[in-house]
Amino acid sequence: MEREIDGEILTIPQHVAIILDGNGRWAKKRMMPRSYGHKAGAQTVEDVCEFAGELGIRYLTVYAFSTENWKRSTEEVSFIMNLLRNHLKNSLERAAKNNMQIRVIGDKSALDKDIIDVITDLEEKTRGNTRLTFTIALNYGGRDEIRRAVQHIVRDAEDGKIVAEDISENTIASYLDTHDMPDPDLLIRTSGEQRISNYLLWQIAYSEFYFTPVLWPDFGKEDLIDAIKYYNSRDRRFGGVK
Ligand code: FPP
Repeated sequence: MEREIDGEILTIPQHVAIILDGNGRWAKKRMMPRSYGHKAGAQTVEDVCEFAGELGIRYLTVYAFSTENWKRSTEEVSFIMNLLRNHLKNSLERAAKNNMQIRVIGDKSALDKDIIDVITDLEEKTRGNTRLTFTIALNYGGRDEIRRAVQHIVRDAEDGKIVAEDISENTIASYLDTHDMPDPDLLIRTSGEQRISNYLLWQIAYSEFYFTPVLWPDFGKEDLIDAIKYYNSRDRRFGGVK
């Protein structure tokens, strides 16, 4: 899809994935506790969903909690889980307003029962929304996702549903949490870090990467547009020659 933005015709990436980073540093700069940064970060997620929809992005996938984030203090983990719980519980109205589907990827089995229930309900009730698919990666790790997919493939093989010779790249993709989504065109990481941190390892094979020093709570519409401008300056060849 193309859009005129600031007098320029820009191709809008279909799927934007974001590693939101820098909540803690943002709070520290203000001499506030890390929780203050997470609260501001959650608000930014909600704002970015709106901008993304307005700009014509079809899929937005954010890394909210990784399989490694359990290593943080119990206090911080429970604060983040509560933020996510409240965010999810208040999402139905926003989803309707933004015509947004909501999904969660990751290993949901480790989450509290009430969070799992609200996710199931949200996914079901927003399934018909068509403008933006907003996906939250929660208790997500790229390697863990592949591990779970392999487990599922082996089980299907044991049940005679699949034979080894027939396993193609598409077969593997179809067993991932993202099976019904296109791969990300653009991956953004905020706060100046330049790492993948176990995010969407299979899916980012051909994504463009955009790193910005902006701390996540400060990330706004102009920053998203800058990322899209950068994406437009890249020449995507998918391993071929143009
Ligand atoms: C990133 O900053 C923080 C996280 C990855 C965990 C918490 C995420 C949120 C609160 C966003 C909520 C998401 C939704 C969907 C509402 P950091 O703590 O790693 O910052 P630092 O690197 O500066 O310490």
